[in-house]
Amino acid sequence: MINLLYYLDTASIDQIKRAFDLYPMSGVTTNPTIIARENTNFLGLLKEIREVIGTEKDLHVQVLSSTAEGMLEEARYLHEQIGGELYIKIPVTPQGIKAMKLLKKEGMNITATAIYTADQALMSAMAGADFVAPYVNRIDNISGNGVDVVSQIVTLLHNYGLDTMVLAASFKNIQQVHDVALCGGQSVTVNAEVMDGLLSHPLTDSSVTQFINDWENVYGKGKITNNL
Ligand code: E4P
Repeated sequence: MINLLYYLDTASIDQIKRAFDLYPMSGVTTNPTIIARENTNFLGLLKEIREVIGTEKDLHVQVLSSTAEGMLEEARYLHEQIGGELYIKIPVTPQGIKAMKLLKKEGMNITATAIYTADQALMSAMAGADFVAPYVNRIDNISGNGVDVVSQIVTLLHNYGLDTMVLAASFKNIQQVHDVALCGGQSVTVNAEVMDGLLSHPLTDSSVTQFINDWENVYGKGKITNNL
């Protein structure tokens, strides 16, 4: 069975608690900007996120070093400190690709990030990345086509028989998520607003209100199926 995996792109504990309570979430993705936004002890925050989502859900955390050796050290440290299903996010620089090759040998989970082209994704996959994260909206914003890039990545991964999955990121609207799902992207990471937006429809709300009104007009206010 192939699933669409939903990830929440935030480090806000409140947003994570709410989304994991309501929706079929696979995990949480962060980046340095997202963590810095919370302006708190970063390790404490990551440990709290791990506690909220549990050890079996994926947590993606990015390294900051610019050398492969530095990235490796950070990855080992994060593993030791956070544990569970941890994915080390590594930008697709030459040093990043080297780090992916080395980290794979150590058996770590890797998410290649800051992807703007299908070739960056393909090389990351060849280097051992488990996920590749194309930035859909940022590509759209530079007069590219983010969904097209995702579609090309899906095709390349399929053509070369690679197990690497797309983790499409940087969404600003529902249509982008919809188009990524249609072209076979295996997972998406979205902010809390987009996650809610995927479900919300004014006619759904008015239909539910009408059902309740029709029912209560006959059976009485506050009556439901198990208290009549
Ligand atoms: C996730 O991996 C990315 O870092 C993130 O989705 C980027 O989103 P933004 O373009 O909204 O900053």
